[in-house]
Amino acid sequence: MSEKVIDIHDLYKSFGTNHVLRGIDINVHKGENVVVLGRSGTGKSVLIKIIAGLLKPDSGSVNVLGKEVDTLSTVDLRELRLKVGFCFQNGALYDSMTVGENLAFPLKRNTPGISNEQVRKSVNVTLEAVGLLKTIDQMPAELSGGQRKRIGIARTLILRPDIMLYDEPTAGLDPITCTEINNLINEVQRRFHTSSIIITHDLTCAKDVGDKIVVMKEGKFVKQGTFDEVFSTKDELINEFYDYNFIQ
Ligand SMILES: Nc1ncnc2c1ncn2[C@@H]1O[C@H](COP(=O)(O)OP(=O)(O)OP(=O)(O)O)[C@@H](O)[C@H]1O
Ligand SMILES: [Mg+2]
Repeated sequence: MSEKVIDIHDLYKSFGTNHVLRGIDINVHKGENVVVLGRSGTGKSVLIKIIAGLLKPDSGSVNVLGKEVDTLSTVDLRELRLKVGFCFQNGALYDSMTVGENLAFPLKRNTPGISNEQVRKSVNVTLEAVGLLKTIDQMPAELSGGQRKRIGIARTLILRPDIMLYDEPTAGLDPITCTEINNLINEVQRRFHTSSIIITHDLTCAKDVGDKIVVMKEGKFVKQGTFDEVFSTKDELINEFYDYNFIQ
């Protein structure tokens, strides 16, 4: 097995008396797509925010790209964050900037001294990678939901992170657009050699993109394996998911 790019052991995180993560173990190997399934409020977003250094763990070990996250200085943490791309659910685009400017912005901010020509080239290559070069001069408000997701992914991808964290990348999309986003996630993995955690409620997404699936309940992982392994047993927990997805 290849090296681990994320290795988390016995992770705990509470907010006051709300004990959200209660002893999480998870690892992601280089090049792997790991899907995290779990009901609303189980702490999935909190988990990836800790991995991205956006929230601090209470206890446990969080190793990302060989670095123990909570021992890092501010400067080292900042450097690590650049290698960990976080795709927010709504894409977090700046509405007053064009698509091209939305991509150029993080690149210029994080790459001091980069030339305008390099920025232009990188914006073009990255937009082309998500299939939306034609939208370069459009405003975010002019995009469809699926296009916004793609641009959100492109904006994260432009810094060429080693790790991509996707928070519900297909939420609110129709089935065909969902499939396109799933294909894009796999394409990004192949083309940019990223390792990913994908949070989703969508079982089709889990099946299409997940090399490994972990199921989370009440702050713990209760099951993990390939999609077929996890869903081969129709136990109560998995039935909950089928029902849940059906209702959704
Ligand atoms: N910054 C914060 N301060 C206080 N409580 C928080 C904070 N972030 C998350 N929580 C709490 O942690 C719990 C887990 O939240 P989280 O967003 O991780 O859930 P989730 O599994 O991603 O749910 P969903 O599927 O609805 O996105 C919730 O009870 C939430 O209120
Ligand atoms: Mg969430």
